Amino acid sequence: MRSDASGTSGGCDGGAASAGERDRFARRLFTPLPRRYDALADLLSLGQDRRWRSAAVAAVARARPRTVLDVACGPAGVTLELAARTDARIVGVDLTEEMLRQGAVNVGRAGVGDRIGLVLGRGQQLPFADASFDALTFTYLLRYVDDPQQTLTELARVVAPGGTVASLEFFVPPNRFWRFWWWGYTRLVLPVAGGITGGRAWFTVGCFLGPNISRHYRRYPLPWTIDAWRRAGFEHIGVRLMSLGGGLVLWGTRAGGGGTPDATHDPPDVPGGR
Ligand SMILES: C[S@@+](CC[C@H](N)C(=O)[O-])C[C@H]1O[C@@H](n2cnc3c(N)ncnc32)[C@H](O)[C@@H]1O
Repeated sequence: MRSDASGTSGGCDGGAASAGERDRFARRLFTPLPRRYDALADLLSLGQDRRWRSAAVAAVARARPRTVLDVACGPAGVTLELAARTDARIVGVDLTEEMLRQGAVNVGRAGVGDRIGLVLGRGQQLPFADASFDALTFTYLLRYVDDPQQTLTELARVVAPGGTVASLEFFVPPNRFWRFWWWGYTRLVLPVAGGITGGRAWFTVGCFLGPNISRHYRRYPLPWTIDAWRRAGFEHIGVRLMSLGGGLVLWGTRAGGGGTPDATHDPPDVPGGR
């Protein structure tokens, strides 16, 4: 595992936060989670996280990249799926050292250590040269940075023209009926179920997640996010809402590669979240 983290950039959830506070918050939140992360993420998302990851990885695997950067890789769940579904050499980057330690264990167990490198670093300031990767994935990242537009621009910087990028995030169900149940699940069930299955650290995550997701989309609705991808230098952007709108997979191509526009928007008219 290489250490390239410079650890700067600010504030937890809105509010006036000093530089580095948001990174510190993310590290504090994620440091106790790695050992049981994949199992509990699967359980607490009612098995949906697995489907969402698979959809994001499929968007990248289609392009048959030789090199992929997986940003906010955590314990390397997406990284390993990329390794299983492509022949690429993959680098995983994450802010939290403990996540990467568990990632190294998981990579070793899967026997693909020769194709995967794990690097400590920040999505806002990647320790790689311009256009170093054929493809890039990032999962559950933009809610943890101060300036999602700046981070998207930084992610685009390291992707070669024509390279594919895919992301996965939670979303707020656009349909009022499903949003009611989503709200109840994220505000009530998640903290309790998190606490019962994972103890205090997962209770904290369970309390944090729902309000954080809602707040993120109030500030950065989906149309803003799609425009931000364009401004960062991506084109042929595709959107897929999954699991009644609880999950959001976005993908696109780094401009300048001369590819064919083939991405789809599904559904075409997505409300901005609430
Ligand atoms: C919810 S976990 C997701 C892990 C992995 N992507 C997965 O789906 O299994 C979010 C990860 O983002 C990492 N993270 C948060 N802020 C980050 C940043 N600014 N740069 C890089 N990683 C970050 C955390 O350390 C954590 O491992």
